[in-house]
Amino acid sequence: MTRPEPFRIKMIEPLKRLSREERKENISSRGYNVFKLNSDEVFIDMLTDSGMSAMSDAQWGKMLTTDQAYAGSDSYAALAEAVSNIFGFDTFVTVHQGRAAENLLFSTLVKEGDYVPNNMHFDTTYANVKHKGGTPANLVVDDAYYPGKPGDFKGNMDIDKLKDFIEEKGSEKIPVIMLTITNNTAGGQPVSMENIKAVSEVAAEHEIPFFLDACRFAENAYFIRTREKGYEEKDIRDIVRDMFSYADGFTFSAKKDGLANIGGILGTRDEELHKRCVELGIIIEGFPTYGGMACRDLAAIAQGMYEATELDYLRYRNQQVEYLGDKLIEAGVPITRPVGGHAVFIDVKEFLPHIPQVQFPAQSLTAELYIEGGIRGVELGTSAFGETDEEGNVIPAPLEYMRLAIPRRVYTLNQLDYVAECVAKLYDNRDDIQGLRRTYAPELLGHFMAEFEPIE
Ligand code: F0G
Repeated sequence: MTRPEPFRIKMIEPLKRLSREERKENISSRGYNVFKLNSDEVFIDMLTDSGMSAMSDAQWGKMLTTDQAYAGSDSYAALAEAVSNIFGFDTFVTVHQGRAAENLLFSTLVKEGDYVPNNMHFDTTYANVKHKGGTPANLVVDDAYYPGKPGDFKGNMDIDKLKDFIEEKGSEKIPVIMLTITNNTAGGQPVSMENIKAVSEVAAEHEIPFFLDACRFAENAYFIRTREKGYEEKDIRDIVRDMFSYADGFTFSAKKDGLANIGGILGTRDEELHKRCVELGIIIEGFPTYGGMACRDLAAIAQGMYEATELDYLRYRNQQVEYLGDKLIEAGVPITRPVGGHAVFIDVKEFLPHIPQVQFPAQSLTAELYIEGGIRGVELGTSAFGETDEEGNVIPAPLEYMRLAIPRRVYTLNQLDYVAECVAKLYDNRDDIQGLRRTYAPELLGHFMAEFEPIE
């Protein structure tokens, strides 16, 4: 049964489609890196779901009517109420985006030589841990490394791996355990309530603080409701409250399930940690009642958190991602299954088996998709997550993905049909696609600024 969008479109932004020749010129002149394209050179932008949501009339309305104040604006009060109602946290720090919350947390907790386990770190958490002299560790269940393998909660932490890791490194070297919901790096795969609880128990046993990386908390709650026994009839907000009740704290990018274009939150139940993060936050972000944003941004987040936890919205959201996944499966394209919460992840090891990972096949496919259809996806493979050894040789990432993220409430199913057609065409002609040579990459988060050239 079709479930139509639970909204109608009130305002539009015209899109322009450049010619194939123009697109070819654009991508080659930007070192085959889609981060360097201007957005008006892109027809369908699936680079990220972050900060790309279409906001509702209620969000825009609240943005216009809130007062702008350095300290104590009414939008801060609205946000505090939403954080308390939805997450069940009464102490938090407002920051301008998720990675700023990570910076505050890791600057405060992580020392040189420490370890930070996670089911899977996303690029910024990984880099922020490293930046503080720590070592990030991915302890996800093995199924996450088999994109085609079915499974309800392929984002889970492997509890045995976590216990062994603590045993091996010692709890005094682990200042925090993170759990990313949904697990972006594994393909937007969800984490079960059972797993959240189990991680919290291991953390408590070793007296290690347990934090959620909660960017996509609402999508995760929806998966729990549809896939985990006992939650079928539960209200999404009750599920969210349960999820957060197991955590000592959380980092949150409101650019995802806050349905806002900017914003982040660091939540903690630890008064001393809260105090230290507030003090550091004032130095690097701003006074906590605005957190590096305009007060109107806080109003958008507060309203967005309520909208993101409405069941009708989440059904629509999930159906849209599944729709694109199904179209690609019909065309034989290898993708992560089941599809995740915010994006379709194309398994490029299977798509382009003739290109070795050291030649960045997912980067190459991302450039080809731009040339084919003006569509901007993103590489989440060896450029984003690979390493280099001492001689500068590329060490491939375990997974080689091109991600097609779906911004919230932005594109129609016709546009997704077009995306599927373009990807299918590339798949039919996949033998013609060649690898790339990397000519430049900074040490941390190198993929954003990296440059490539075709291998002749
Ligand atoms: N954690 C996860 C799991 C993320 O996906 C992101 C951002 C962050 C933290 C950092 O949040 O961007 O507000 O600083 N992910 C975006 C993406 C950028 O495209 O997946 P941020």
